[in-house]
Amino acid sequence: MDLTELFRLTGRTTIVTGGGSGIGRASARVLASAGARVVVADLDADSAEQVTAEIKEEGGEARAHRVDVADPASVNALVEETAVAYGGLDILVNNAGIMIRRPLAEISYEEFDRVLSVNLKSVLYGCQAAARVMRPGSSIVNTLSTIIDFPTVGTGSYAAAKKGAEALTRTFAVELGPQGIRVNGIAPGWTDSGITRQRGTDGSGRFDQQQFDTLAHKMAAAAPLRMTAEAADSANAVLYLASAASRAVTGQVIRVNAGASMA
Ligand SMILES: NC(=O)c1ccc[n+]([C@@H]2O[C@H](COP(=O)([O-])OP(=O)(O)OC[C@H]3O[C@@H](n4cnc5c(N)ncnc54)[C@H](O)[C@@H]3O)[C@@H](O)[C@H]2O)c1
Repeated sequence: MDLTELFRLTGRTTIVTGGGSGIGRASARVLASAGARVVVADLDADSAEQVTAEIKEEGGEARAHRVDVADPASVNALVEETAVAYGGLDILVNNAGIMIRRPLAEISYEEFDRVLSVNLKSVLYGCQAAARVMRPGSSIVNTLSTIIDFPTVGTGSYAAAKKGAEALTRTFAVELGPQGIRVNGIAPGWTDSGITRQRGTDGSGRFDQQQFDTLAHKMAAAAPLRMTAEAADSANAVLYLASAASRAVTGQVIRVNAGASMA
């Protein structure tokens, strides 16, 4: 058996939302390394361009696309334009996300709405649009979070969104399975990225590496493997779920969190 063939994505068209940073960037690069052509989609057009350039420098095929995943018209345009340009869509990674840390008793309705729009409704928009153009054998991967397994202070809106996205993942898996489309999730634990770096940033926008490292060590100490995951670890799980190696897997969530939570 040729193991590399199992993970090879040559000729497969892929979209990664939030591809300009962190876990999305790592996923875009890993998928491109496996041979996929990757549309790096992000609200931040500059970061999408930068990751596209990185992939091309490594000999991969990529293009940048500015998208706001909270806007269904923007998501539809992303998926439709990609499908027209490349004759279809094989892999969609609904990865873009934000966190607004605020206790539920204090969060404004606008903030709550924003977190749900970017982290939850985006998954609905992405999966719906993809289902219209995907062929049998296609795969959707939604980025959830370890937050689906236990509550923490200040992350209630994020948890509601990610738990909802888990429900969408499982239901889409049931509904799209007969079309040969698989839908799975990854649930990363603490990972060095734009989102977690907010935790080491004070009110004036100054990043405190020591504060960030202290928090990361705390997270590592609480995990059975005594480590925190890197963006590349999540990207490798995305590669598995995108590839033929996982052809019989749907409706599942892979927890990439050093064992910090299990379900
Ligand atoms: N870093 C962690 O510890 C961690 C843990 C669990 C889950 N996650 C999830 O991983 C995913 C990726 O986040 P990350 O940690 O790499 O953070 P990140 O901030 O490095 O990357 C998020 C990317 O999403 C983009 N984005 C934000 N809003 C968008 C919008 N409306 N439309 C399009 N793009 C948008 C940002 O510009 C950014 O490039 C998110 O869904 C996040 O919730 C992260």
